[in-house]
Amino acid sequence: MKLLICFLLAYLIGSIPSGVWIGQLFYHQDIRQHGSHNIGTTNAYRVLGPVGGTVVLVMDILKGTLGASLPYLAGFTEHWLILVVGLAAVLGHTFSIFIGFKGGKAVATSAGILLAYNPPFFVIACAIFFSLVCLTSMVSIASTVGMGIITAWSLVYHDWLLSTVAFVLWIVFLIRHRDNFKRIKAGTENMVPFGLGKYL
Ligand code: G3P
Repeated sequence: MKLLICFLLAYLIGSIPSGVWIGQLFYHQDIRQHGSHNIGTTNAYRVLGPVGGTVVLVMDILKGTLGASLPYLAGFTEHWLILVVGLAAVLGHTFSIFIGFKGGKAVATSAGILLAYNPPFFVIACAIFFSLVCLTSMVSIASTVGMGIITAWSLVYHDWLLSTVAFVLWIVFLIRHRDNFKRIKAGTENMVPFGLGKYL
């Protein structure tokens, strides 16, 4: 019963649409109507600016970290539960109960699970991600290609559950970035204003 409540709470925490609520509350803007129309961090930076974007980034990461940490807070000692319950937070972020079961692309919330499960791996994942952003200027490529590299890197730890969850998240990323792939193909993908992307 306690574990079921952890799953439900993790889903509800993940469901908090930080980008939508921060935009509506403090900027009187619905980020779903602007930019890429996504509710996530990248579009929050694009539409709300650096302060709003950073708040959304932190909130979206913490949703994953807090959701994944619920089993520990409830007294469970099995480390692997962090990953499994963390997936419920990602489910909430992508199919949020608060916005008609729509949601984001799962990137920051997935990072939050990694932070709770294996902080050194989280740092490596961030380094891979930011290197790819600097190389391509496209967060969508950094997220999807980066998650592929991160999945491969996870094999270093000989932790099969970690590799399996990373692989599942990679598939989720690929599915959720379908519109980005169409824009990349058409040459119209949004770019961040730094990095080497303009030379590609
Ligand atoms: O945060 C998701 C990112 O990979 C892409 O976001 O808004 O450019 O579609 P966006």
